[in-house]
Amino acid sequence: MKYTLPKYILAACLAVAMGCSATKQNNVAVKSTQLPLDRKVDSVLALMTLEEKVGQMNQYNGFWEVTGPVPKEGAAALKYEHLKKGWVGSMLNVKGVKDVKALQKIAVEETRLGIPVIFGFDVIHGFKTISPIPLAEAASWDLEAIERSAQIAAAEAAASGLNWTFSPMVDVSRDARWGRVMEGAGEDTYLNSRIAEARVKGFQGNLGEFSVAACVKHFAGYSFAEAGKDYNTVEVSNNTLHNIILPPFKAASDAGALTFMNSFNELEGIPATGNAFLQRQLLKGEWGFKGFVVSDWGSMGEMIPHGYAKDMKEAAMYAANAGSDMDMESYGYVEHLAALVREGKVSQDKVDDAVRRILRVKFMLGLFDDPYKYCNEAREKQTIGKKEFHDGVLDVAKKSIVLLKNEKNLLPLKKTGQKIAVIGALADDKTSPLGSWRIAADDGTAVTVLEGLKKYPGNAITYSKGADVALGKVVFGSETKINMTDKSGFSEAVNAAKSADVVIMVLGEHGLQTGEGRSRSDLNLPGVQQELLETVYKANPNIVLVLNNGRPLTIPWAAQNIPAIVEAWQLGTQSGNAIAQVLYGDYNPSGKLPMSFPRNVGQEPLYYNHKSTGRPGNGQPTESVFWSHYIDVQDGALYPFGYGLSYSKFEYSNLKVSSNSFGKGGKVSVSVDVTNSSKVDGKEVVQLYLRDLIGSVTRPVRELKDFELTEIKAGQTKTITFAINEKTIEFYTANNKWEAEPGDFKVYVGGNSSATLEASFGYTN
Ligand code: BGC
Repeated sequence: MKYTLPKYILAACLAVAMGCSATKQNNVAVKSTQLPLDRKVDSVLALMTLEEKVGQMNQYNGFWEVTGPVPKEGAAALKYEHLKKGWVGSMLNVKGVKDVKALQKIAVEETRLGIPVIFGFDVIHGFKTISPIPLAEAASWDLEAIERSAQIAAAEAAASGLNWTFSPMVDVSRDARWGRVMEGAGEDTYLNSRIAEARVKGFQGNLGEFSVAACVKHFAGYSFAEAGKDYNTVEVSNNTLHNIILPPFKAASDAGALTFMNSFNELEGIPATGNAFLQRQLLKGEWGFKGFVVSDWGSMGEMIPHGYAKDMKEAAMYAANAGSDMDMESYGYVEHLAALVREGKVSQDKVDDAVRRILRVKFMLGLFDDPYKYCNEAREKQTIGKKEFHDGVLDVAKKSIVLLKNEKNLLPLKKTGQKIAVIGALADDKTSPLGSWRIAADDGTAVTVLEGLKKYPGNAITYSKGADVALGKVVFGSETKINMTDKSGFSEAVNAAKSADVVIMVLGEHGLQTGEGRSRSDLNLPGVQQELLETVYKANPNIVLVLNNGRPLTIPWAAQNIPAIVEAWQLGTQSGNAIAQVLYGDYNPSGKLPMSFPRNVGQEPLYYNHKSTGRPGNGQPTESVFWSHYIDVQDGALYPFGYGLSYSKFEYSNLKVSSNSFGKGGKVSVSVDVTNSSKVDGKEVVQLYLRDLIGSVTRPVRELKDFELTEIKAGQTKTITFAINEKTIEFYTANNKWEAEPGDFKVYVGGNSSATLEASFGYTN
């Protein structure tokens, strides 16, 4: 059924289209779709009072028992009153058709103009059916699977009445101590950019009834919080900002993302929410972004403790002037913006620009055509938790697993005749695999590793917890489970291990040990898990260590001693099935690390694409101490970016560059032969890295520039070809612009960022 616009808007649409002024008395019905988008937006804008405009720029968190009695006091009563006056443009954290519809009805039927509300929610890695955490999905390097995962999340969220997700997070994350590394695509700019595009496409699709608007965040620099401590000060150079941090945002904007979110941090001493360079000059100016920017939660008000604004009114002034279009839960605009306009401190034009952007997105989502477009209870029932969605998240979960080590032929497991001891609290945890951002999912809905393994009936399984995952203070309120020392379960675990052929130990982090506000200063296995591992090892060294975690951990002892290590992150609802299928070889692992694994926490931030420095050394101990290294740990990562094994074995040879050099408008092709020298078919992510030897500003030792995920049959050799042109070698130069500089380049191709196969070419212009 096509919804017809409220009469005043319809009248105005027609009136403006015909060049007339809008009046409340007009009563002409016309479908809004008959006018060009900008005209429609302007026609609505023309009707609005200043307060109604400011209202569109105001976003409130979900408040009272929506379908219950009207709230009479406190914040809920105020929000309710504001909603009725048309002073609420958006709400977050309201979900479910019944509740969304009840609120939308107030906005559409009880306010003067009937402008629909846009409903946002953090659909970060799934809605009800949970996908792997974004960092895990990035390990798949499979853009189609990632797009599909976003599509599934969007379909369920949209069926639940929502039309906007605060995702993807595209912050390049170099410091594993930062808890929010789990929300992004890891340490590399190129990989982040490609994944940002896939996620935007997946969420937004054709903007139909199963799509939601994406929100690219956190703009910008948030992940560079000093020492990996969330919300901490950010200190980055212009060079790092442009070459490392901004490209994924630009890619997401170019992919058509409808909204952006700014961030809690400061940049060059100016909080991002009040940062006109980021929001106006760059995003809306140079990049031509036409959507709107929402603040992060309360970030407008946080400009006060930052020491930038003296009070909320001043904060609102800075935010509005800097191009923050919508205020998430600071109450800054709703309380002060109209006065600021009347006092001439914020221009009417700036407010109009913000409101136009917000209305535009609402029109694009179809909310003016039908404010109840997303409110179909039958669709909600049919859509959420569909079998095909579970299949989709299982598929991407398998692809996200990274095999870090496989010796003594422990993996894949034999399917019959084995006694298997499964040890570790996480092996039997139905909630942790759901990860940190899963507010719509129900606790206890993940398939555990134990359940997954039991689907293979040929082996005898015993389970022993061994020890808890020490949780620390990671949850809201008073619920803190701190169990750092209890070893009473060790002896049972040791006994189980003694009589087993193979021991599977599932260790790592609790699902809430990563995410916002969950920075760690230690990257070891929490609590007594390391000790449990070493104790069980003495009883039976045939251990497969399965890691469940939301960030790189420090596992040097395991890397040295444990024969098989599987990085299985937090894989969502289908976690245990995905892990079991990989352990049994029904899926041949193909994931590659999206972040370097350090040897110890003191190496952080650790990333492969660092600069050379004047004293690079060669990564090995030398006679001199005067080179860039630590005296107490081997240089470089334990497992580098891009690393991951397979049950197949891939060999690289024959790296060729089509010519020694290319000029303006030209290109070179790089080809390499990849042979699967094993007896099993498998998939490999072939990675191409470049080093720009000399630049007008110093350049990284190597940078990922392209990759191909390819299936190679047992015994087969495939030739993979990449094209390199000016775009590939461009960077933000000393001229403060993106350009290709003439010079010499090294090219490396291989299965991880330490690839040694090398060739070279030059660029002349
Ligand atoms: C987070 C955002 C999130 C917002 C709304 C903030 O604390 O930084 O990423 O979208 O809350 O929940």
